[in-house]
Amino acid sequence: SWGQTKLTLHTEQSDTKISKDIYGHFAEHLGHCIYGGIYVGENSEIPNVRGFRDDVIGALKEMKIPVLRWPGGCFADTYHWKDGIGPRENRPSIVNVNWGNVTEDNSFGTHEFLDFCELIDADAYININVGSGTVQEASEWVEYVTSSNLSPMTELRKKNGREEPWNVKYWGIGNENWGCGGNMSPEYYADLYKRFATFTHGNLYKIACGPSEGDYNWMDVVMQKTASNWGLMQGISLHKYTIQTRNWGNKGNATGFGEKEWFETLHETLDMETLVTRHSTIMDKYDPGKRVGLIVDEWGNWFNVEEGTNPGFLYQQNSLRDALVAGVNLNIFNNHADRVKMANIAQMVNVLQAVILTKGEEMVLTPTYYVFKMYNVHQDANLVPAHIETGKYSYEGKSVPKVHASSSVKDGVLSVTLCNLDPNNSEQVEIVIYGNEYASATGQIITAEQLNDYNDFGKNENVSIKEFSVVQPKGGRLSVNLPSKSVVLVQLQ
Ligand code: AHR
Repeated sequence: SWGQTKLTLHTEQSDTKISKDIYGHFAEHLGHCIYGGIYVGENSEIPNVRGFRDDVIGALKEMKIPVLRWPGGCFADTYHWKDGIGPRENRPSIVNVNWGNVTEDNSFGTHEFLDFCELIDADAYININVGSGTVQEASEWVEYVTSSNLSPMTELRKKNGREEPWNVKYWGIGNENWGCGGNMSPEYYADLYKRFATFTHGNLYKIACGPSEGDYNWMDVVMQKTASNWGLMQGISLHKYTIQTRNWGNKGNATGFGEKEWFETLHETLDMETLVTRHSTIMDKYDPGKRVGLIVDEWGNWFNVEEGTNPGFLYQQNSLRDALVAGVNLNIFNNHADRVKMANIAQMVNVLQAVILTKGEEMVLTPTYYVFKMYNVHQDANLVPAHIETGKYSYEGKSVPKVHASSSVKDGVLSVTLCNLDPNNSEQVEIVIYGNEYASATGQIITAEQLNDYNDFGKNENVSIKEFSVVQPKGGRLSVNLPSKSVVLVQLQ
C-alpha cells in the first residue's frame, strides 16, 4: 500500500553534479571561532599542531570539510591583511569593531589560515576587503598568495617562510556591501566590483557580494551591470539566516523551546527554497548558460546568545532542531545543484549554527555536525532529480511539508536523504526508483527523544548518527518508515 509520502527518483536523469563545496563552512574573526576554537597557539596545553587544535582538525577531516571561507563576514571589510603576516611579535593589534570591540592581535593571519586549510584538507575561500580597503591592497594580497612570478609580494611571502604559492581559487570581493561592508547601493557596488575584479589577477573564481535574503533588486542590478564582463565574475553570493521570531531583538533560544518554536524555525528556514529559486530566475535572465554560481556563503540558525556569554560573540547551543534545519537546507542546495555551486554555514566553531563547540580543552560535536557527516555522501555525486508528494505538518493554521528530501548517485550507490519535519508522527515513505535496479539498502538516522535535545560538555551525546534498519528494495520500490523529527540517510546498491 502507498505511504502518505511518495518519492519518485529518476536515476537515468542524473547529469548534474552536486558540487562538494555546497558542504562548505565559514570561519570569521568573531568570538571564539578562530581564537580558542581553531587556534590556541603553540604554547597551549591543549593538544595542537603549530597552534591548531588536534581535536578540531580530526573532527573536521572526519566530517569531510571541502572548503572554508575566511576572514569574514563583517570583519573582512575592516581587515588589512598585511597586519597578519611576518613575525607574530611584530604584528600590530587592532580592535574588532564589529564583534565586541575586543583586541585582535593578528596572530592568526594569511599563513595560519592557509596552513590550517592544508591540515584539514579543505580549499580556501578568502574574502577581500572592499569596504575600507584599496584595490592595490587587494591586488597585492592575491599576488602574495597565488603568484609564482618574481615580484616584491612573492619575495615578501618567501621571506615569511612560504616558498611556493598556495592554490587559492575562491576570492570574495567584499562582504555584505549593502550593510556592514559599506552601506552601498547596488549600482555603486557593481562598479566598484569591476575595479577590484579587474586588478586581481590570475585564474581565480571571483565572487561578487550578492543580496541579503529577498533583495531581488540587488541581484538584478549587480548581474545586469556585470553581464557583459563574464571574465570578471564567476559567482555571486546570497546570505540568509533563519531567525525564527523574525525579530532581531529577540531571536528565541537555541535550547529550551517547544513545538511552536520548532515549527516556526522550520517554516522560516524553508524560505531558502523560494530565495534560491527566485534569485536563480533573475540570474537566468543575464546568464542563461548558468556560468555564474550562486554562492550561499552565509546561512543557518541565528538564536539569542547563551546566557552569560558576550553578546558580541554570537555563541549558541545547537539542538536536534538545528539538525533538521541543516538537513532541509542541504537538500535544497542539492536540488538546485545546477546553480548553487557553494554554500558556507555560519559558522564553523563556537559561533551561530556551529558544527563544533569548545570549552577549554573540551569539544562537543553538535547535531549539525552529524548532518554534515551523514550528508557527505552527496559531495561531488550526481543529483538524482527527486519528485516528492507529501502531506503537511500543520501548526496553528500554518503548514510545512512533512517530508523533505534529496538524492544523488555516486559509484553506483544511490543515496537518499530524508527529513521528517513532524515532531509527533512517523511517516511511511514509498520510494519509487526508475533507471536502475538496486538489490540492497542500508540506513542511518539522526534523531533524539526530545525535540530540543542537544550535546553538552562532559555528558554522553544525545544526538548523533545511529544505524537505521530498512527493508530491502523490491521491483524498484522501497518502503521506509521515517520516525518523527528525524534526518535519515538510505543508501541503495
Ligand atoms: O555571521 C555573522 C555575520 O552575519 C557576518 O559577519 C555578516 O556577514 C553577517 O551579517
